Amino acid sequence: MKKWLKPWITFFSSTVSVTWNVATADPPDDVTSLLHLNSLKSPDLYVIGLQEVYSGPLRFVSDLVFDNPWSLLFMSALAPRKYIKVSSIRMQGLLLLFFSKLEHVPFIRDIQATYTRTGVFGYWGNKGGVSIRLSFYGHMLCFLNCHLAAHMKYATERVDEFEYIMDTQTFECEKAPRIIDHRLVFWFGDLNFRIQDHGMHFVRTCINNQTYNLLWSKDQLIMMKKKEQMLQEFEEGPLDFQPTYKFDLNSDSYDSSGKKRKPAWTDRILWRLRPKASTHDEPHGNTLDASEVKQDMYTSIMEYSISDHKPVVGIFTLELRKMYKTPLVRLQAEGDWSADIDAVVLYSPLQPFPSSTWDWIGLYKVGFTSVSDYITYTWVKDDEVAINEEVIQVYVSKEEIPVQGEECMLCYYSSTLQCIIGISEPFKVSNIASAHSCLFLTSS
Ligand SMILES: *[C@@H]1O[C@H](CO)[C@@H](O)[C@H](O)[C@H]1NC(C)=O
Repeated sequence: MKKWLKPWITFFSSTVSVTWNVATADPPDDVTSLLHLNSLKSPDLYVIGLQEVYSGPLRFVSDLVFDNPWSLLFMSALAPRKYIKVSSIRMQGLLLLFFSKLEHVPFIRDIQATYTRTGVFGYWGNKGGVSIRLSFYGHMLCFLNCHLAAHMKYATERVDEFEYIMDTQTFECEKAPRIIDHRLVFWFGDLNFRIQDHGMHFVRTCINNQTYNLLWSKDQLIMMKKKEQMLQEFEEGPLDFQPTYKFDLNSDSYDSSGKKRKPAWTDRILWRLRPKASTHDEPHGNTLDASEVKQDMYTSIMEYSISDHKPVVGIFTLELRKMYKTPLVRLQAEGDWSADIDAVVLYSPLQPFPSSTWDWIGLYKVGFTSVSDYITYTWVKDDEVAINEEVIQVYVSKEEIPVQGEECMLCYYSSTLQCIIGISEPFKVSNIASAHSCLFLTSS
């Protein structure tokens, strides 16, 4: 069958991206409007990039974000809605979090995260970029969260820093070793570009009149895009919201301090589809057309006032063809599970994958926050008994099931691929009372 005749499943994936310089503030109590939790019909992905997250003096790079109050906040808001944190990376104040709706998790592979520090001799302090790359249903996506040099006069340095990150940041991935090799890149952050030339009075009048378009031609990023090839390949929606910097804390009014900084669109979200010309197409036709990425919303959220920056949110619809329709592994709980009888997991590999003795199956409560949030786990190879070639049984001893009356799920974690490759349907682990009567009946 010819490639283009294959019955690809096209689906519309909705992605919410957030960028916010939080100015070392403690997290707010509520992220409902930041994440549009009440207004959107459960988007597929959330990508959240923060800058200036408070970090102690010693930690430079850390993947251990469990103790980070911002990560905990987003996990606790999204986990009950059936999203898990798939990946995260932190470099000092830069934090990037990637969440996916559970149903997509077995189709997210080749997940890698990395960072680049910029600034000559650390002169600019903790600036740079952190990124997460992955394959989403076979499409290579990359998310880059940057914090670039501050101050009006450093526009060229900001572009240099960005190009340095693009040039030097690499992944262990044959098909897409650099950021620009990815089919779709989202670039966001506190890019720190300012509004040049116009005086304070004109800028403020335009903001009051909501005639933002009169400021666009003097926005440094828009100006730089005219000169720099690399920037031209990135698209951005119209800046139809008021500049997000710099506000007095706990207020919606711009800097009233002695410095009176001119308002600016420092916080931005851009995207880049790999130009068709440079594609040496993968065998599976890993392509998206420009028309297949649509920005549905690009705005700031004014109600958050803990920082001198307002958060910026971009909502995108990606029209994707699913390159794979089934997970690598199907798994299910066999029979009734309860806290006082040994249990059995059944799994079947649906496609060949590099299995390992370090593969494990985790038991999770429905509403878990990430792959490490398991109740218990079992090594697949140690405890497995093959029934036949298709279905494999794995025992879980009752001592390892410390839950009662909980809705649970099973996830197969591939140690070689370093991701979840199969998820079971939810099932109930029954309480001890009913399990006893069940034991009594079966043993009599
Ligand atoms: C702002 O609005 C006022 C009143 O409509 C108008 O006179 C003025 O020219 C406008 N200025 C700008 C910069 O948009």
